[in-house]
Amino acid sequence: MEVIRLPSKMQSWALDQRAHGFTLAVVPTMGYLHEGHRSLMRIARRRAGRVIVTIFVNPTQFGPNEDFERYPRDWERDRAICEAEGVDVVFAPDVGDMYAPDHSVWVEETRLSRGLCGAYRPGHFRGVATVVLKLFHLTQPHVAVFGEKDAQQLRIIRRMVRDLNLPIEIVPGPTVREPDGLAMSSRNAYLSPDERRQAAGLWKALQAVQARFAQGERRAAALIETVRMELARTAPSAVPQYIELVDDETLEPIEQIRDRPALLALAVFLGTTRLIDHIVLSP
Ligand code: PAJ
Repeated sequence: MEVIRLPSKMQSWALDQRAHGFTLAVVPTMGYLHEGHRSLMRIARRRAGRVIVTIFVNPTQFGPNEDFERYPRDWERDRAICEAEGVDVVFAPDVGDMYAPDHSVWVEETRLSRGLCGAYRPGHFRGVATVVLKLFHLTQPHVAVFGEKDAQQLRIIRRMVRDLNLPIEIVPGPTVREPDGLAMSSRNAYLSPDERRQAAGLWKALQAVQARFAQGERRAAALIETVRMELARTAPSAVPQYIELVDDETLEPIEQIRDRPALLALAVFLGTTRLIDHIVLSP
């Protein structure tokens, strides 16, 4: 396994592999790798002759009061995980090599980014779309694998690929969960033991919604109230930032689920840790 730090070197490696006829897959990450990331690497491995994992804590997607500085990092462990997953190249650039001091071009998705996390994290998806497009140019992939865990991010990247005509297939990977249902996330490392116990309440609340939906409930207000009640019961310290029912494709809020799939998405604070999760409700 090769480790590449320089963007120029990454791009020439990728172009060279392409010239030799290899199919390239990329898995973009911010490191502190867990089983969720590993599952994406396995999907990539099945899809391509060469697998690239990028590890880059991207400063432009963090707000001024967010956790960029304290985002967890463990280079040696990440490297060992990539090696064990049969990754061909880890691309781990320095911030200064990714962004010129006078960097001034941004990728902005203007519809899907407006609501949900976008409403509470101004500039976040602009930072994500910009760095992902840069990573695509540097790694020249045929296939890029993203987790369903970050539902809004996945939809925005698909939209970028469509609207900017990128010749890249976006492959989604299912959310990997802890045994108690908590979606794996590098940020789970921030949770105290008590918060960690309560964090399982997010999934319990979403399962309660799934059950009510299966019984025929279609009204947003009732489904959202189910989440609130379940959260209050199973995670009393949790402070919801949003709990919303939106159309799965447009991400516009809906009052009632009719003939199209809907996304019930939530963001919750447990102490200072912000957790997100969602469920797709398909009629
Ligand atoms: P990060 O949070 O490290 O996630 C990297 C990839 O892993 C994303 O596609 C994310 O959806 C996926 N992922 C995270 N947790 C998962 C889980 N429990 N199961 C399955 N997949 C999971 O998302 C980012 O980094 C960044 O925004 C990035 C796209 C790299 C741009 O900086």
